[in-house]
Amino acid sequence: MSNPNHPPAVGVLEQGPELIFPPGFLWGAATAAYQIEGAATEGGRTPSIWDTFSHTEGRVVNGHTGDVACDHYHRMPDDVRMMADLGLRSYRFSVAWPRVQPGGSGPANTEGLDFYRRLVDELLNHGIEPWLTLYHWDLPQPLEDAGGWPARDTAGRFADYAQLVADALGDRVTYWTTLNEPWCSAFLGYGSGAHAPGRSDGADAVRAGHHLMLGHGLAVQALRASRPSAQLGVTVNLYPVTPASDDPADADAARRIDGLANRFFLDPLLRGSYPADLVADLKQVTDFGHVQDGDLTTIATPMDLVGINYYSRHVVAAPVEGAQQEPYWRAPSCWPGSQDVRFVTRGVPVTDMNWEIDAPGLVETLRRVHEEYTDLPLYVTENGSAFVDEVVDGKVDDADRLAYFDAHLRAAHEAITAGVPLRGYFAWSLMDNFEWAWGYTKRFGMVWIDYDTQIRIPKSSARWYAEVIRRNGLAGQ
Ligand code: FCB
Repeated sequence: MSNPNHPPAVGVLEQGPELIFPPGFLWGAATAAYQIEGAATEGGRTPSIWDTFSHTEGRVVNGHTGDVACDHYHRMPDDVRMMADLGLRSYRFSVAWPRVQPGGSGPANTEGLDFYRRLVDELLNHGIEPWLTLYHWDLPQPLEDAGGWPARDTAGRFADYAQLVADALGDRVTYWTTLNEPWCSAFLGYGSGAHAPGRSDGADAVRAGHHLMLGHGLAVQALRASRPSAQLGVTVNLYPVTPASDDPADADAARRIDGLANRFFLDPLLRGSYPADLVADLKQVTDFGHVQDGDLTTIATPMDLVGINYYSRHVVAAPVEGAQQEPYWRAPSCWPGSQDVRFVTRGVPVTDMNWEIDAPGLVETLRRVHEEYTDLPLYVTENGSAFVDEVVDGKVDDADRLAYFDAHLRAAHEAITAGVPLRGYFAWSLMDNFEWAWGYTKRFGMVWIDYDTQIRIPKSSARWYAEVIRRNGLAGQ
């Protein structure tokens, strides 16, 4: 292994039999607009909260911004050809709201929409199914200035934007997801402040989460009305949450974090209610007075699929007894009301993000959503890992990323065998890109990007994934 920081167990393929996936399984890769497009001021695009945030000193590692990123805006046709070379059946991308509706209200920007029309046409010409995400975190800055997601009006603005994109692309895009990972938008954006817009207020984070879901429900209604045959869904990031010990106090910590991370979204979206224990946990933070009659019915508007992003597991323990408890409003946290819960590491191999590698957690997550919540088709809309890569003789041999994919695809197959209607899998990510607060310091791509020259080099994992797609499954080892 080329890097001494790599944990020893990673990079080794599991022993396993040949595993073939169901016919028609949708094999794809994912990206997001701000992470790859660049061209931040071109074609009528105006700033989003991520432009403002990344240009604010101290917010992103090394002061990196998405101004240029992978320059995908200018290199799109070549990038689509590269996807075709890799045999991708589907490509999940996001539309930049401030590119197609500068400022976040008013008429569409034709030049911005044209970019996505060309992208979708290019994909279709190469036999690649476009999978469109409407919101991957790039809220137009004027909407943040007007209150952002904690303000109810933003939900309505989002539905208007959804309508405008449906009018332009609805004739050629079948698969639509409204939001990507509303937990991150709400709790990292407005709770801990680690993500744009960088605000820290527990009550605002809870309100943001609600209005994101309300915007989702309104957008689904708008899309359904204008495009009855579209497949509509949302993408949530889920984690199994495990107590660190048998101690009932640790079990309670796990219940609380599961409430905030998972059930805060799954219950309203798929059951039309907030979990009572979560509402009780948040009592000191908010009285949920922002929830109006009918909101939960709107949020639970029927969908056609659920997208799940899976990366790791949370293992948690009760707060240390006697530790000084900060009142929630003084401790910026992405876990409002439960900010003293301890996150425990188990010493298992981790990725370059320090996220524990836990493929069985994917089986648990998929089974849970299916068995406890819904019969809808499920898709893994993101799964992947950052590792420190190296170019040697023009090649990148990312054995550990390849092993991560292999282990998680075996887990996905296990879930299917257990009866989960899993219909597709999107690797995160097609290529290295702007990893939010980590800038360009974390590489998740199957394709290496040289940020000075914009040269693309498919890594070993990309070649391996192409073979997985070709055989519709994994070879035996
Ligand atoms: C997810 C995001 C995606 C990427 C991966 C690593 O939370 O949706 O944009 O940053 O994590």
